[in-house]
Amino acid sequence: MDFRFNFFTDENENKEDTHDETELYSPKHKEASTEESKQAATGNHQDDTPKTKFCFKAAKEHDIPKDLNKLLEDKVLETVSDMPYVKVSVTCLNGSDEEGIISKSVSSHSDLIPGVYEGGLKIWECTFDLLGYLSEAEIQFANKTVLDLGCGAGLLGIVALRGKAEKVHFQDYNSTVIDKITLPNIVANCINEGHDRKTSMPPSKRPKVAECLSDVPTKCRLFSGEWSAVTQLLLSSNKPFSNYDIILTSETIYNPDYYSALHDTLAQLLDTNGRVYLASKVHYFGVGGGIYLFEKFVEERNVFKTSVVQTTDKGLQRCILEMAFKGSS
Ligand SMILES: C[S@@+](CC[C@H](N)C(=O)[O-])C[C@H]1O[C@@H](n2cnc3c(N)ncnc32)[C@H](O)[C@@H]1O
Repeated sequence: MDFRFNFFTDENENKEDTHDETELYSPKHKEASTEESKQAATGNHQDDTPKTKFCFKAAKEHDIPKDLNKLLEDKVLETVSDMPYVKVSVTCLNGSDEEGIISKSVSSHSDLIPGVYEGGLKIWECTFDLLGYLSEAEIQFANKTVLDLGCGAGLLGIVALRGKAEKVHFQDYNSTVIDKITLPNIVANCINEGHDRKTSMPPSKRPKVAECLSDVPTKCRLFSGEWSAVTQLLLSSNKPFSNYDIILTSETIYNPDYYSALHDTLAQLLDTNGRVYLASKVHYFGVGGGIYLFEKFVEERNVFKTSVVQTTDKGLQRCILEMAFKGSS
């Protein structure tokens, strides 16, 4: 099986863009997605007949093992091109993919299978836009609580961790992604930070490996599952929870069926004066989502104000949206 099919095309952005146009969902998936999402969003389950090809994932908090170095034992690391990060190679997931998302993705020729696999195995290009924006705009993470929503490889949360955030939480739809990609990536990039020469931070200010690694169990929490379910888990957990100062999210508005759950998650989890930084393609051909549709949805809900803080015209047009509660400072 060729695990490079449609994965990690971030090194080859324009090719990935054409995939976005043609290989996101098949119409049969779209139909099931719409019905199920509406039921999930409204709680309206009048017709209990199982007409589904999928069901939404329950929420789960993932344990962080004591021996973090062990997480990298069977992993192959690749550098992220022109970036001071490494990533776990998806090839090493062979045989250990409990959800079967790699084989399902390959056999369906798709990077997204609604309700089954939502794309977290690869790094999508808007992540790089948002990484660039966070750096250029000098967004400060020190002592902030941060959520990387729909994290996949978790690079956005890793930046916050490196930036001395007080807490960094990671969420992905798929538990396989959290266990096999996100958590090992966090560990690998903590270790890499100690040795990295490309980072702009002066050596004296770089966190020591041990310091950064020891932050992982104390500062990080990782969750898998559908957004509404994860929100409920967080809000009902016995562990203390405070709303996030910053929510980072990239390539998560491709499917309009998920807008209600996404919007409500942001509304329930963001701090009163917090900010959401959302990176997205302007339009997701073949799926229907995109920045204008999402902004319209948000406007109608009348909870958040939005502003486009960056647009990029290279390849498919993309942008970064900043969101804050109406009336917030
Ligand atoms: C296209 S991937 C983007 C991954 C990563 N942010 C990036 O830019 O590389 C979309 C991500 O959103 C999350 N996601 C999408 N729909 C979701 C839903 N309904 N509930 C929970 N997570 C969802 C998935 O975890 C998935 O990793």
